[in-house]
Amino acid sequence: MQPKNKVLDTFREKFGTAPAFFARAPGRVNLLGEHVDYNDGFVLPAAIDRATYIAFSLADSDFSTLWAADFGQRAVFSPQTLATKTQPDGSALPDWASYPAGMLWALTEAGLNAPSMNAVFASDVPRGSGLSSSASVEMAFGVAWQKLGGWEISPMELAQLGQKAENKYVGVNCGIMDQFASACGQVDRLLYLDCRSLHWQTVSLPSNVSIVVADTTIRRKLTTGEYNLRRDACEEAVRLLKPDLPQITALRDVSVADFNRLSAKLPELVEKRARHVVEEIERSRQAVSLLENGQLAQFGRLMNDCHASLRDLYAVSCPELDVMVRLAQALPGCYGARLTGAGFGGCTVNLVAREQADGFAQTLAAGYESETRLHPEIYICRASAGAGLTE
Ligand code: GLA
Repeated sequence: MQPKNKVLDTFREKFGTAPAFFARAPGRVNLLGEHVDYNDGFVLPAAIDRATYIAFSLADSDFSTLWAADFGQRAVFSPQTLATKTQPDGSALPDWASYPAGMLWALTEAGLNAPSMNAVFASDVPRGSGLSSSASVEMAFGVAWQKLGGWEISPMELAQLGQKAENKYVGVNCGIMDQFASACGQVDRLLYLDCRSLHWQTVSLPSNVSIVVADTTIRRKLTTGEYNLRRDACEEAVRLLKPDLPQITALRDVSVADFNRLSAKLPELVEKRARHVVEEIERSRQAVSLLENGQLAQFGRLMNDCHASLRDLYAVSCPELDVMVRLAQALPGCYGARLTGAGFGGCTVNLVAREQADGFAQTLAAGYESETRLHPEIYICRASAGAGLTE
């Protein structure tokens, strides 16, 4: 069932009435600039045509009651229970509830009125797949509270509050990319964001190519620790390079030439992690002009280089992602293929000649299945609008 219908049916069933409003917030795919957002780099995501939907109404108690229709589970919380992450009956908040509860926490911290709601949400963004299902949940609830609270902030400000929820409440030290893409997405456009200034522009994808997303179906658990460790290594590199480059505040400020000159000063592991970031930021600086000039082969090569770097230097790939990428890169019409998102499992993103995209998807699925015995989900995706109320 479509998530939109699912939230409506479940709302009626659980609350015995129709919801007052609906909101929708998409997942995202990222074409270039991976693991650079928290290093003040540049990213090139697009919101995708898969989203979290929420049906909601104002509640007449102090507690918000949320149903996750995909799990058939309920969570109940109020501003007073946020700190302990418990429910009124003393049980722990389920993991999925930390995203909406985190949003409520961040909104409250920002002094924004977030009244209690009755809500049901459901999503067709596959969870743990590198397509930002959690950011889409945060942005859907952000939009819902904005409506109920009667205030208005910009999509970027909502994204920043979502990032804060994730950093401080959920405990993932993520950057701004996912919430930004979910909040600011535009139909048929890529988004190019400078993660330092937060200036962004849209970029059109040349009309002769498609974005194909390939889900390995591998889900890694407990990746938060690994993710936070990568971020720590980047910060460590900045600290160690600062004596020689006093003006730097993030790896964004280190040129490839300076990095090569000074890299011997870094411990081996820190050097590998930081090299990925410095070189990936250099790649992503080239992205817009390559796309605008239709230099797809060059752009695709940067995607391929990005994957090799994520695999060998940043160590966030896994065997199944590597199989999916290797098979894709050898297929006709494929300009570039790489893992997308944080890594450790999940999806690859492929830039493929439009007229060959269907054949590419079929051949890739068959090849992956015969090598891994896993049945992948592969689809051609369309850039979509960002989070908002919907009919
Ligand atoms: C996750 C994070 C993002 C970003 C990517 C890697 O999706 O939430 O902020 O760091 O990983 O590029």
